[in-house]
Amino acid sequence: DEDDGLFLGPPLLEQSPLRVRQQSGWRQRLLLYVVVIIAALGGLLFGYDTAVISGAMLFLRVSFALNAWMQEVTVSIALLGAAIGSLGGGKLSDMLGRRTTLRLTAGVFTLGTLCTALSINWPMFLMLRFIVGLSIGATASIVPVYISEIAPFRLRGVLVTFNQLALTIGIALAYWVDLAFAGAHMGWPPMYAVTAFPGLALLIGMLFTLESPRWLASKGRWSESALVLERLCTFEEATQEWQTIRSSFAGRTTRGALRELLRPGLRVALLTGIGLAIFQQVVGINTVIYYAPTIFEYAGFTSATSAILATSIVGVVNVLITIIAGVLIDRVGRRALLIGGTISMTITLVVLGVIFAIGPRQSGYLILMALLGYVIAFAISLGPVFWLMCAEIFPTHLRATGASIATFANWSANLLVSLTFLSLINLIGKSFTFWVYAGMSILALIFCVLFVPETRNKSLEQIEAYWLNGRKWEEKEAIATGAIPNIKSRKYL
Ligand code: GLC
Repeated sequence: DEDDGLFLGPPLLEQSPLRVRQQSGWRQRLLLYVVVIIAALGGLLFGYDTAVISGAMLFLRVSFALNAWMQEVTVSIALLGAAIGSLGGGKLSDMLGRRTTLRLTAGVFTLGTLCTALSINWPMFLMLRFIVGLSIGATASIVPVYISEIAPFRLRGVLVTFNQLALTIGIALAYWVDLAFAGAHMGWPPMYAVTAFPGLALLIGMLFTLESPRWLASKGRWSESALVLERLCTFEEATQEWQTIRSSFAGRTTRGALRELLRPGLRVALLTGIGLAIFQQVVGINTVIYYAPTIFEYAGFTSATSAILATSIVGVVNVLITIIAGVLIDRVGRRALLIGGTISMTITLVVLGVIFAIGPRQSGYLILMALLGYVIAFAISLGPVFWLMCAEIFPTHLRATGASIATFANWSANLLVSLTFLSLINLIGKSFTFWVYAGMSILALIFCVLFVPETRNKSLEQIEAYWLNGRKWEEKEAIATGAIPNIKSRKYL
């Protein structure tokens, strides 16, 4: 297929502009972490923006006289925007670069939330929520891709998990902000207005960060790519990354991205990404994140304050466990976490259903414990691992497209679960609703066992070779030395 795209030949090794010298590398580490933290602000916006509605709704329904149906639309309009935005984000970031696109989405987000706070009627509010949703969806699909592309491969897991960590911090923050403004009787506008600050921080931060070396290489901008590696990686890492980037672009064409993803080999990667995306949502996590106060009310926390307080505890536990996940993800690996997590989720969901079915009348604390167990199981597995894998399982020239398709599936499944949760409870009762999610967790477990490869300590290019070689890893030695992957089945390219 050489003829349907622009051939980008990598320079020969001798011509490599990589000029790094042996050095301690602490400067590079520091800069790397700063860049990752700035990018992860995108995750914080995502978490905050999706969770803030839980408390804001109490005031919105008064301000705009919303009935139940209108409330559902109010919640889901941003999710719909996010689903669409995630599709556009991949394309845009391939064209403009990861960094430029994130600047753009941060700008739209900041302006959008400020205007949301000033909405004078419901249609205006909805329109702005939709626009902010677009930028959230695009940001959410690009940030993990960007981080995975600048990270040396041994740190990729922990660094991409910064995104999920920021996301959970955003959720926890939203709960506490809701609580504070609700307590101060200031209503919903300030709940949205305050998000402009992290939005602005992302925008300003992205003005000073570096472009992804892999995106630069994909545009043939080799010396810039090497320069970025030089600034963000130690000498050994930079050399290794440089070699693998070069080899993966050898003889590569840049167009026909979507079609390429559907070819044998790579379509298994796409299916894995989409499968993880859907399972991450259909195990029901966002019923807890968006409806926790409601669940606690069912469980006997009669005052709104105690229900919101219990919710805030869930938010904090979610953050703490995500930190542990970040530590474990590159040590015990993605598969172990996924398998352990989905088994634990199944158990806690079954228990939740049982407590709702036969528990004592005042079973609030039992429910809180079971819910916490469930959130812990999610936060250590599907939560961070999906976002990481969706950023690492696709080849560089298809990464943004693949990640944005997987993210689209994730938002669509999120929309579906959030829209059906309350109706499902009305239809089949609380116990069966949680048992449905338990059933989904079992399916998720089977899916992970059968399809999800262990990508710990593999370079992005080795992962690419894995799919193209028919789901087989290179010989042990090549992996250990980080050698250039040998893609046997060039016919797929
Ligand atoms: C994951 C999910 C997101 C959810 C969050 C909860 O990032 O993608 O939808 O709200 O975890 O921690």
